[in-house]
Amino acid sequence: MSTAALVLAAGRGERLGAGLPKALVSLAGVPLVVRAVEAIAAVPEIERVVPVVPPGELARFAALLSGVAGAHKLAPPVEGGRERQDSVRAGLASLADDTAWVAVHDAARALVRGADVSRVIAAARRHGAALLAVPLRDTMKRVRDGRVLETPPRAECWAAQTPQVFAARLLREALAKADAEGFLATDDAQLVERLGAPVAVVEGEVGNLKITTPEDLAAAEVLLRARGERAA
Ligand code: C5P
Repeated sequence: MSTAALVLAAGRGERLGAGLPKALVSLAGVPLVVRAVEAIAAVPEIERVVPVVPPGELARFAALLSGVAGAHKLAPPVEGGRERQDSVRAGLASLADDTAWVAVHDAARALVRGADVSRVIAAARRHGAALLAVPLRDTMKRVRDGRVLETPPRAECWAAQTPQVFAARLLREALAKADAEGFLATDDAQLVERLGAPVAVVEGEVGNLKITTPEDLAAAEVLLRARGERAA
């Protein structure tokens, strides 16, 4: 049963303000996309890694990724789209028909740990779909027009991360339904939830943060140093 990973790197990254695609921003001297692809390719259960890159950037990303660790698992980059969901659709369309399992990962989560990826893959194989998430430490408020609508019980609130792993046919079906209904999701599990299918939650690590702002980049550098991992 083959397992493939889409590494989504097609975001514009405006909040990082670096003036280049976010995935190319350096974290301690190594671009986020390189870190993310290497982390995912190192996972033994994953056989194929497909980078999904900004439109018009195929050549630049292909050159950058040609020398990564685990390059033998790497497929040629695929062009993503305007919305994250467009990028997922493009990546999925590129996968071989016999792909049984798909892990979708944000390149912006460049610090993901291989052991966590393996745990979420195992959960997906048991339940059909699974995601990494962490329990929230803050109390959540649903807010509209500057007013609180409701306060969901904190014990039930988790922050969704990636990878999120799915039976390939389930994700394809979920995406087709969302597209037909014009529904745009901010993560992929949401699409599968809309089918009424169960999604298992695997507790991950706060360190698997989505690097979105300059402050996140600084926090990621501190985390890397604390882990004693490679810096430039
Ligand atoms: O900021 P956001 O949650 O949209 O981005 C999460 C991930 O999805 C990032 O790694 C980003 O590169 C990717 N993305 C994408 N295509 C888009 C938008 C985001 O691949 N159109």
